[in-house]
Amino acid sequence: MNDKSATRRAWIITGPTSGIGYRTALEVAEHGTVVLVGRNPAKLRKVQADIEAAGGAAISVHADLSDIHSARRAAEEVASLDLPLAGLVNNAGIMPTRPAWSEQGWELAFATNHLGPLAFTDALVPALPDGANVVFIASSAEDPEDPMATRAGFRGSRYLSAQATARGEYRPGGCIQPGGDAYATSKQGNLAAVFTLAQEHPQLHFRAVEPGFSPASGLSRDLPPMMKLMTKSLTLIAPLLPAMSTPKRAARNIVKVLTDTSDATGTYSGANGKPMKASRQVSNPDYHARYIAESRALLASVPAAPQK
Ligand SMILES: NC(=O)c1ccc[n+]([C@@H]2O[C@H](COP(=O)([O-])OP(=O)(O)OC[C@H]3O[C@@H](n4cnc5c(N)ncnc54)[C@H](OP(=O)(O)O)[C@@H]3O)[C@@H](O)[C@H]2O)c1
Repeated sequence: MNDKSATRRAWIITGPTSGIGYRTALEVAEHGTVVLVGRNPAKLRKVQADIEAAGGAAISVHADLSDIHSARRAAEEVASLDLPLAGLVNNAGIMPTRPAWSEQGWELAFATNHLGPLAFTDALVPALPDGANVVFIASSAEDPEDPMATRAGFRGSRYLSAQATARGEYRPGGCIQPGGDAYATSKQGNLAAVFTLAQEHPQLHFRAVEPGFSPASGLSRDLPPMMKLMTKSLTLIAPLLPAMSTPKRAARNIVKVLTDTSDATGTYSGANGKPMKASRQVSNPDYHARYIAESRALLASVPAAPQK
């Protein structure tokens, strides 16, 4: 691949087997070895083969990020690879439209989109060298004042507490579409993590990216058939519309933020690469610190897995 001198660096990406993550994995392979963290071994093998066929290098690590034991084990495995880690993209995410529960009995979107990635990142931080970049893929669905998200039916995060969110309970007045509040509330956790971790670890850089609405990704797979059809029909015109994005366009932007060598931290940028406004709620330092403290208290209730 192009940047031969950079092949000594390694970049971790979660959820590289579909949509935005897949495109990002291919793109980041031009900057070094890619550590692919995903839940489906066959799909991981395919992505690894695609990267290798293009002359890149990749290593696969199996993890179901909704399961805290698996997330922690994956972080340990990545650290034990002893690679010169340069950055991490927390990309894996879901938008379920029916109630579903994780291995720990927590609401599945909250576990997959926020709690697992937080556990994975917290466990990996000691292995990251100074200056490494950690990017979380966020969503404007968390902001009740975002015009595009509200037009799509979201009413912003309905966070009460981490305990309540894990039970699938939300502040009233939310989204009428099933799963909308769970998704918006869990994705706010990504911003809370970026803002809080940036303060806790000034030696690293934490950045959030809103990738833009990409109807071509797999995120809509759980939508009811009619809505799925409508979303998929947008795929054809998405590349032509500035308000929409594609996984390829999103990946270009994510890799730019991931490989940016400036000291920027605690930042949030949109699909066009420009600074993005987070909701008033999560922009409040007391609020985002509480969101993360409550999440960590929940994670601390999961005992360390027995040694094999
Ligand atoms: N598409 C959009 O319009 C949009 C807008 C704003 C933000 N985002 C965010 O962008 C990110 C990527 O979404 P996408 O649109 O590219 O969706 P996608 O095509 O469905 O890809 C999601 C990825 O996450 C992985 N994943 C799901 N659950 C997992 C688990 N428990 N453990 C490990 N990996 C898991 C999936 O693995 P499998 O292949 O095994 O299913 C897949 O690789 C998400 O964080 C999403 O919230 C997307």
